[in-house]
Amino acid sequence: MTRSDGGSFHQMWRELLPIGRHPASGGYRRFAWSGVDGDCRAWFEEQATARGLRYEVDRNGNQWAWLGDPAEGDAVVTGSHLDSVPDGGAFDGPLGVVSAFAALDELRDRGARFDRPLAIVNFGDEEGARFGLACVGSRLTAGQLTREQAHRLTDGDGVTLPRAMEAAGYDPDAIGPDPERLARIGAFVELHVEQGRALDLSGDRVGIASAIWPHGRWRFDFRGEANHAGTTRLADRHDPMLSYAETVLAARREAELAGAVATFGKITVEPNGVNAIPSLVRGWLDSRAEDQVSLDTVVGGIEKAARSYADAHGVDLDIVRESFTPVVEFDHALRDELARILGTDTDLTVPVLGTGAGHDAGILSGSIPTAMLFVRNPTGVSHSPAESASEDDCVAGVLALADVLEGLACR
Ligand code: GLV
Ligand code: MN
Ligand code: MN
Repeated sequence: MTRSDGGSFHQMWRELLPIGRHPASGGYRRFAWSGVDGDCRAWFEEQATARGLRYEVDRNGNQWAWLGDPAEGDAVVTGSHLDSVPDGGAFDGPLGVVSAFAALDELRDRGARFDRPLAIVNFGDEEGARFGLACVGSRLTAGQLTREQAHRLTDGDGVTLPRAMEAAGYDPDAIGPDPERLARIGAFVELHVEQGRALDLSGDRVGIASAIWPHGRWRFDFRGEANHAGTTRLADRHDPMLSYAETVLAARREAELAGAVATFGKITVEPNGVNAIPSLVRGWLDSRAEDQVSLDTVVGGIEKAARSYADAHGVDLDIVRESFTPVVEFDHALRDELARILGTDTDLTVPVLGTGAGHDAGILSGSIPTAMLFVRNPTGVSHSPAESASEDDCVAGVLALADVLEGLACR
């Protein structure tokens, strides 16, 4: 077997790098169904057709590039997503897609002969940065989100998901579950940059995922009374910012107590005037824990605290759970197969790691066998322009993915 230096990886990486990078922050703004997302999607289609793969977009706007006939069934699928969080890093998502094409190139260089259909996929709207719900493309496909629910999703400018899809050239009335597609897939393997430092600490380039923590997003609406910042006595105010601020501190406290994480990372304020007491503070809580009981404890504790702070300030509070993903335990047989293919079995050359980050592979794990490979990230930073992975580690990821695809799909 010949092993390449990942040559096609570097070229594809360079092509994708400028798309959607903000000149001031250096971070990526690749939001679902935007023009930049369209540029990324055009890039995907070019890669597919340049390799003679059969390109298609499914009913939910996910892009597929097929080698072999999907109707044969038991397909091996790999890929990830190309969208980003606001000012995200270059790797979260694109590393899995670029590595998928590069792994196929590597296998062709090796003269591999496939006896299962193979597909590369780009799932739409994984991060949920625009409409608030993560993994929309895979959730719709798996039937975890209905068309009606998806049609109600609205971005910060009041644009609904169907209007955004339509503007990007897709039919929003076609969206919905896709069980026939899933029934043709025997395994989905997603390669992803690690979003933590476990591999850096263990000194390994590549790891295998074991599980994803249960996680969700909750919207907290604190409604008070707008008034003049200069003339309203402190005692007369119903300032929702105060109860919001106290709730942020409570979230930190509750998460610490439970060994979990809780983050208020997004906020909108009305009327958002420097000299006006706010009428509304809307904050979004993202919370994750190793198990469901801990997550319930954290979120329950934050809700209770928030209600008592709101009462104390004469502020109304509504809390809505906007999304939830239960704990994911990746398919043991597929995980063990990856470990066997990568030559580890139990000697931990390729460590098996849990993660607090959500992924399309997690959503699909309820429908089909899924697995993940992680590539070392020396700082562990993610969802930030500082996210990184060395070129050598990216190539090691491509080769590991090629080994896995060869082991699963080739004779
Ligand atoms: C997606 O990356 C998430 O974990 O929120
Ligand atoms: Mn992400
Ligand atoms: Mn991701």
